[in-house]
Amino acid sequence: MEKIIISGGRPLNGEIPVSGFKNAAVAIVLATILTEDKCIIENLPQISDVTISLEILRSMGVRIKYINKTTAEIDSTFVKPDLAPYELVRKMRASYYLVGSLLGRFKKAVVGLPGGCDFGVRPIDQHIKGFEALGSKVTVESGCIEADATKGLVGTNIYMDVVSVGATINVMLAAVKADGVTVIENAAHEPHVVDTANFLNACGADISGAGTDTIKIRGVKNLHGATYAIIPDMIEAGTYLIAGAATGGKLRVTNLIPKHLDSLTAKLEEMGVTLIEEDEAITVISDGKLNRANIKTQPYPGFPTDLNPQMGVLLCLAQGTSILTEGVWENRFRYVEELKRMGAKIKVDGRTAVVEGVGALSGAGVRALDLRAGAAMIVAGLAATGRTTIEEIFHIQRGYEDIIEKLQAVGADIRMVTIPDNIYEKAN
Ligand code: UD1
Repeated sequence: MEKIIISGGRPLNGEIPVSGFKNAAVAIVLATILTEDKCIIENLPQISDVTISLEILRSMGVRIKYINKTTAEIDSTFVKPDLAPYELVRKMRASYYLVGSLLGRFKKAVVGLPGGCDFGVRPIDQHIKGFEALGSKVTVESGCIEADATKGLVGTNIYMDVVSVGATINVMLAAVKADGVTVIENAAHEPHVVDTANFLNACGADISGAGTDTIKIRGVKNLHGATYAIIPDMIEAGTYLIAGAATGGKLRVTNLIPKHLDSLTAKLEEMGVTLIEEDEAITVISDGKLNRANIKTQPYPGFPTDLNPQMGVLLCLAQGTSILTEGVWENRFRYVEELKRMGAKIKVDGRTAVVEGVGALSGAGVRALDLRAGAAMIVAGLAATGRTTIEEIFHIQRGYEDIIEKLQAVGADIRMVTIPDNIYEKAN
């Protein structure tokens, strides 16, 4: 069992480079199935969600070779539409992209229902609606989703009842090789939707409008291989910017796309933090004095739900009472109980949290209940006085490349320790 131990209260100074975007990487890696060729994917983050995606592909006959730490050659020429091992699929929400990719390539797919972070109910009705509209029969049975379009997929107009990143990408994957034109209305605008479309277009797909409400996909017969670099991870970047604001000091976060972070930087400025924006970097300068703010998470370009927990920590350190409203997931505030162990004063009522500024947090033993909740515990531990111990850190390892090393390099007192499992067995 691994734990993270932090001695908090040190300002972060220096530079942190951002890695490739997890949410784009998992989609693009699984999208390579659509090509009967070799793809070279660059700027792949070294995180467990990417390792699992590659393992899933390997189990289906895909050949994978790492060229360097962040570049992999993925050869899907001989991929088989076999059922991927459930112990891999269940570890990752994004494994549902296998359905769209396999449907596009083989016109049929059988995939175990996906796992991932627990934010309450995570329906896939919009994915299914899209596959059915394209002419696929879909059944969900015995823990598997089965899609069958052996008579072919035919382009059509699909209106998404909710704005869903996953459903938009999944339908796009299935539609790239359908006959005719597919139009997705009320599509998600997130940068990873655009990145996935750009990758598919680099492979010969014909997709326009990604990043807007309406995406048009003209089906093509075949996709070829391509070399493609994944965009920087806006959520990782946002996490470090918030950490800089929480701890004070001068932190330059590099290799990012400032536009993707507009909703966060606007709020940080409102809270009294100084920001210097460059083409591919943002420097955060904070003296630790923070104003209160009201924030509502929404689909892009709104404030990202995946920065809700980290921002919840920052609001605890501000002066006055803030309102944090969750507009995407019904159960995003699970982290609040952990934060209260560090002295936070937060009242949650449904999707709204009233956060009373407490000035300072104090170190405690806490758990990383999901990926972003875990990142929030790190931000809290860095800002808190005393020692914080974080358990269940496998969640954090799903999405943050080299987080310990990156934070150590800017002055954090943070380390990971491995505790033999049998210590816990003896204690029980
Ligand atoms: C993706 C991100 C996740 C992020 C979320 C919202 C990946 C791998 N994960 O998750 O980190 O928190 O976007 O930005 O990219 N919904 C339905 N029916 C559906 C699908 C979704 O009602 O068929 C609802 C969900 O319950 C949720 C909302 O739509 O309330 C948004 O979900 P969605 O955008 O699909 O999230 P994911 O793609 O799973």
